[in-house]
Amino acid sequence: MEKYEKLEKVGEGTYGKVYKARDKSTGQIVALKKTRLEMDEEGVPPTALREVSLLQMLSHSLYVVHLLSVEHVDKDPTEDGDDPSNSKPTLYLVFEYLETDLKKYIDSHRKGPTPGPIPPEVVRSFLFQLCKGVAHCHGHGVLHRDLKPQNLLVDKDKGVLKIADLGLGRAFTVPLKSYTHEIVTLWYRAPEVLLGSTHYSTAVDMWSVGCIFAEMARRQALFPGDSEFQQLLHIFRLLGTPDEKQWPGVTALRDWHVYPHWEPQNLARVVPSLGADGVDLLSKMLKYDPAERISAKAAMDHPYFDGLDKSQY
Ligand SMILES: Nc1ncnc2c1ncn2[C@@H]1O[C@H](COP(=O)(O)OP(=O)(O)O)[C@@H](O)[C@H]1O
Ligand SMILES: [Mg+2]
Repeated sequence: MEKYEKLEKVGEGTYGKVYKARDKSTGQIVALKKTRLEMDEEGVPPTALREVSLLQMLSHSLYVVHLLSVEHVDKDPTEDGDDPSNSKPTLYLVFEYLETDLKKYIDSHRKGPTPGPIPPEVVRSFLFQLCKGVAHCHGHGVLHRDLKPQNLLVDKDKGVLKIADLGLGRAFTVPLKSYTHEIVTLWYRAPEVLLGSTHYSTAVDMWSVGCIFAEMARRQALFPGDSEFQQLLHIFRLLGTPDEKQWPGVTALRDWHVYPHWEPQNLARVVPSLGADGVDLLSKMLKYDPAERISAKAAMDHPYFDGLDKSQY
């Protein structure tokens, strides 16, 4: 790690800290991310190696944050002390650095010095880039499982959005609490996941994409639930309580209960800045039945993107 000069902490996510750093030999600004992939006497676990190589492969898309290198540190002091006897071998991932993430970007439009809507062309362009990155991951058989504004990096000047934090070691579960005991957000979680479905698909990511789309348009989260139950109620109140007709199999899901009955509301009312095409695309991303939910690839061909010059992506 002597190759890098740590500059400042830029983020604190689910598993650890992320630092802005300078590569001393090239001057390049990078992001250093400590992984949970701690090694034992046997060295790097093979599952970790598989995930790192998958990440490396996926990061060749322009819409996935680029993994520049992987550094193996032999004796890394633990976060809570410099006692060298506590140090253990760790992997650090070195990524290209992007100045901000979509959460900070949306916040700056809500409460910054010059609040105001995100320009509709920017919403459209960001959504297209997001769909393109998601289509790339899904095309390689990889689900992200935790798409949310904090995991999307933004270069404001270039108008670029890239997917970050690809499920390293996440396997089939996203932890409920982060390493700082911060509660992991449920706001972007698909209803089938909330209802305990065990074999979920690429559609879980498209639900998150829909929630992020609405949030860019509203500058406010669409379903800000603070427990799994409240999260479902937020969804049901807007989209109506699902039943077997719209979503075959829903009442057989592990955590299904009897819920209050709500009728679907008009989606256009919660995203007043979106035109009819935008509302139509959003409604296809927020279909209850995962089999009916639009795919990332199909979304890219939706009329909402007709006015976009796709050749520049
Ligand atoms: N390549 C990067 N460039 C700039 N900031 C980054 C980069 N990667 C992560 N960050 C910042 O650090 C935060 C946490 O990183 P993330 O990869 O999502 O880790 P975690 O798994 O801990 O959630 C992000 O929300 C973002 O603000
Ligand atoms: Mg993250």
